[in-house]
Amino acid sequence: IVTEPVDLLRRARTDRRGVGAFNVIQLEHAEAYAAAAERTGCAVIMQISQNAVKYHGGLAPIARATLAVAEESAGSLVVHLDHAEDRELVSEAIALGFTSVMFDGSALPYEENVAQTADVVAEAHAAGVLVEAELGKVGGKDGVHAPGVRTDPDEAVAFVQATGVDALAVAVGSSHAMTERTAALDLERIAELRAALDVPLVLHGSSGVPDETLGAAVAAGMTKINIATHLNHALTDEVRRFLAENPSVVDPRKYLGAGRRAVEDEVVRLLGVIDAL
Ligand code: G3H
Ligand code: ZN
Repeated sequence: IVTEPVDLLRRARTDRRGVGAFNVIQLEHAEAYAAAAERTGCAVIMQISQNAVKYHGGLAPIARATLAVAEESAGSLVVHLDHAEDRELVSEAIALGFTSVMFDGSALPYEENVAQTADVVAEAHAAGVLVEAELGKVGGKDGVHAPGVRTDPDEAVAFVQATGVDALAVAVGSSHAMTERTAALDLERIAELRAALDVPLVLHGSSGVPDETLGAAVAAGMTKINIATHLNHALTDEVRRFLAENPSVVDPRKYLGAGRRAVEDEVVRLLGVIDAL
């Protein structure tokens, strides 16, 4: 079931519940997320990043497959474009039927981020599509972790007003692509941002955040919780284990099936952490 994202995130913000947003690289990811949504009754956001698009050499095939998984599932699912820096990719996603997109102008100077994000909002809102933007760069995408970066609440208020975005990714201590869950979050800053803004806040780089801190971050005011690397970890660990135990297996359905189950189980567990099932 394809779910409307604006209400979903607004309601979750009001109730101080987390909504899990998990990255799709292969079809198996989407299938695992849909199964977890069905098992838990939680709405789940399945997101495809510009980097995943680069890997596949285009958006349409993986996007159409993910949208089809959402449509066919009994679970509540949103298909979202993650970390788009290319304007044309946003337009393509909207044309394909995405109901939620992230335009990531966080590497741009402030005024340029405002101008380009506002332009995306005009196009997306005309199509009824949610826009997430980023202010204050969450590091790590380029391999450079910068856990000390913070989004300034006053600047965030001005940014949301100037752009009209529906959700905002903020820098509060996390970094992308951490393989150890050792990040410390600035819970005070999260609470300040929650009080200053009326849009749902997005935590990027949540893989590096321990369970307990994830729960505390949601209680302090984070709403959309983006997790990618941690689930790749779960998938790859299981595939490694399976292949080591079954060295003669060559059918990818066997080892990817095992990996897919591991991802599904870990997502169910994580939804319990962020959405207090
Ligand atoms: O946009 C995606 C996320 O921020 C995921 O980051 O791979 O560090 O969990 P992560
Ligand atoms: Zn991210």
